[in-house]
Amino acid sequence: MSGVPPLTRTGTSALPGTGRTAVVTGASSGIGAATATRLAAEGFDVVVGARRMDRLTGLADAIGARALPLDVTDPASVEAFAAALDRVDVLVNNAGGAFDANPVAEADLDSWARTYEVNVLGTVRLTRALLPALVASGAGDALFVSSTAGLVTYEGGSSYTAAKHGVHALVGALRLELVGQPVRVIEIAPGMVHTEEFSLNRLGSAEKADAVYRGVREPLVADDVADCIAWALTRPHHVNVDLMVVRPRAQAAQHKVAREDWTEAGPRSRPDR
Ligand SMILES: NC(=O)c1ccc[n+]([C@@H]2O[C@H](COP(=O)([O-])OP(=O)(O)OC[C@H]3O[C@@H](n4cnc5c(N)ncnc54)[C@H](OP(=O)(O)O)[C@@H]3O)[C@@H](O)[C@H]2O)c1
Repeated sequence: MSGVPPLTRTGTSALPGTGRTAVVTGASSGIGAATATRLAAEGFDVVVGARRMDRLTGLADAIGARALPLDVTDPASVEAFAAALDRVDVLVNNAGGAFDANPVAEADLDSWARTYEVNVLGTVRLTRALLPALVASGAGDALFVSSTAGLVTYEGGSSYTAAKHGVHALVGALRLELVGQPVRVIEIAPGMVHTEEFSLNRLGSAEKADAVYRGVREPLVADDVADCIAWALTRPHHVNVDLMVVRPRAQAAQHKVAREDWTEAGPRSRPDR
């Protein structure tokens, strides 16, 4: 035996969801709800977590999942959530959001703290709690829904881009730390996704939220991101999708969005994520 691996696959094939338990955070709306729905359809045993239990139980009943209360910013909540799980093969860290669009000169430090708490500290807290179970599964997946805001910055986006850059950094460090262990570390970085609540939470009014997507013929929707997540999770387990950047075709870059009111003056600059 030379110790040199063969040039053909040795029996590893696409991983079905059947028999695997997937935890999805922030599943009471948007990308999290779509991901939970898709993973249940792929045969995963799905556990959904979020703060709004009414929405969560409605979804869980509809897709045959288990709903557990989870506030990723609360250590006791994360501890209770982790203690309620028998096994975890997949963790989809999706809970997060943006809460302002202020320039640095008008930074609202409470909003910065809230943004950092949920996107960065909440993600680290839950990942740390579930990592032993992911390793013990023998074929674990720690998947992070970051954002293109974790790769570039834009005006008015400092609190959110700083937090998502933080997520990107923790993903990179974790992958290095886990090399040789049976856990994949996967980052999915979406661009503009039209979800019900994201821009509403950030901008505070339906009118301002609608303006983010106005004139964009086909922004991504939550199901598009769920599709990418499901694809990455069902590759053979030696295939690690390190980072997937996924945008609508209409968004070539953060500031370059084709809108129906696009003119020779160029696309408008907006706080796109
Ligand atoms: N929409 C976009 O354009 C876009 C683009 C790139 C990346 N992303 C990222 O994708 C993820 C999902 O976004 P989305 O568009 O689906 O937004 P969304 O509909 O606002 O979903 C956010 C989810 O996070 C949950 N959440 C918030 N705080 C939480 C906490 N403390 N503990 C547990 N769960 C919490 C919310 O549930 P509860 O309020 O019930 O707790 C909700 O289910 C976020 O991380 C976001 O930053 C979104």
